[in-house]
Amino acid sequence: MVIQPTIIGNWKMYKTAAQAVEFIRALKTMIVNNSQVWLAVPFTAIHAAVKEAAGSDIVIGAQNMNSAKEGAFTGEIAGIMLKDAGAKFVLLGHSERRQHFHETNEQIAAKVKRALLDGITPVLCVGETESQRESGYEEVLKEQILEGFKHVEKEDADKVILAYEPVWAIGTGKTATPDIAEETQKYCRSVLAEHFGKRASNSMPILYGGSVKPETMSALMKEKDINGVLVGGASLDPKTFSQIVNFT
Ligand code: PGA
Repeated sequence: MVIQPTIIGNWKMYKTAAQAVEFIRALKTMIVNNSQVWLAVPFTAIHAAVKEAAGSDIVIGAQNMNSAKEGAFTGEIAGIMLKDAGAKFVLLGHSERRQHFHETNEQIAAKVKRALLDGITPVLCVGETESQRESGYEEVLKEQILEGFKHVEKEDADKVILAYEPVWAIGTGKTATPDIAEETQKYCRSVLAEHFGKRASNSMPILYGGSVKPETMSALMKEKDINGVLVGGASLDPKTFSQIVNFT
């Protein structure tokens, strides 16, 4: 089964609504590939970004949400609000959320469940730290994956995207080699196969993230278990990001 590549830009806490519009206006003229191009933008830019992306193949999403439908949670945002603004997907469990905001596997699993209920595609991010890689990454990843998918029914499995992002490669300039990324993502798929069955796991997209650049893109995408990428720093400039999107 061939999975169409998905390329997601994660803008993190960068860009106002006006800057988002400017970026998308430029990117639209530069895309020549037929990959799925998704942008995880700040909450305040979602509405304007969706408007500017209308009629193009660019899909807009968010970077986090709360696991409750709605409620007295000052400062939080609900999936139904993201959907209302036009977001089609949401990043969940990014390592910066796990590290700086102490999100647990349990909380992330609840968010994945809520996103599915709210009709938004969850992109579940998992990844090991440098010391965990040295001491054996398998157990850490297995726990993050099985916990994250805990509330996902088999028939919904392919509605969730898994993103493998080794923490030691995020924002460090140290991209995992294609061999390391492939070996690890193959392992992630085997965990999914154990849980959902081989057939379902073969149609589930697994993305790689961590210092992806135009120069590293082609080699990564040649690997069997890499079905796309999640790009942070290199997604902030339309020209650089378009070179990643237009990989050959
Ligand atoms: P990076 O970020 O590409 O800047 O390493 C990736 C991410 O955090 O999703």
